[in-house]
Amino acid sequence: MSLIIGNWKMHGLKDALGEARAISGGAAMLPEDKHQLVICPPYTLLAMMAEALMETNVLIGGQDCHPSPSGAHTGRISAEMVADCGATYCIIGHSECRDELGDDDELLSRKVEGALRAGLVPIFCVGESLEIRETGHAETFVNGQLDVVAKIADRVIVAYEPIWAIGTGKVPTVEDIAAMHAMMRERLGGSTPLLYGGSVKPGNAAEILAVENVNGALVGGASLKAEDFLGIAQAAS
Ligand code: 13P
Repeated sequence: MSLIIGNWKMHGLKDALGEARAISGGAAMLPEDKHQLVICPPYTLLAMMAEALMETNVLIGGQDCHPSPSGAHTGRISAEMVADCGATYCIIGHSECRDELGDDDELLSRKVEGALRAGLVPIFCVGESLEIRETGHAETFVNGQLDVVAKIADRVIVAYEPIWAIGTGKVPTVEDIAAMHAMMRERLGGSTPLLYGGSVKPGNAAEILAVENVNGALVGGASLKAEDFLGIAQAAS
């Protein structure tokens, strides 16, 4: 079973619900036991999309959450609120949040706890910069990022997203993906679904999803169009 998760990031107004419906319509044609499709829309679409996809086999996730269940935190959204919208999953530690919001390991650990408290499955993101990759320390760096979830590895999904591959069209070699995922499997054990993310497209999905210890994909740009997102799901064997 492959998990194909679309991260819509800050894309999508209400009319994008039509694209979500097209995704669920296409998903209904795919063999049910091979994939689980998930869409993580912006907060503003979460409840509407959950309702629109209620009777379908596509699930919904948030893109981040505050660690507290409620409180004086203007502009923030708690995991309970994400769950209340009808979500099952929540992305935590995406490199764009680490970069733009300054999320560090301590805060990320509390966000993961918050997501679990609210009954959400955390999709914990890790991944190195180009500079770290080029100096040969990518695996050590990512291994360090895994400290946040290592003790609760059976309760989370982990997505390896090299920062330099996000939105750039660049993808690591299958050997490099295999090496990173082997390290993560060794560290986390057999029960953690491990996703790859970073410029996954219909044209490269089959090759990436066939790599050992790759249990699915976290897809940005190509998840916004039903045809592309379904093409990636079809590539999952
Ligand atoms: P792209 O698929 O657009 O490279 O984005 C990947 C990503 O950041 C998913 O979380």
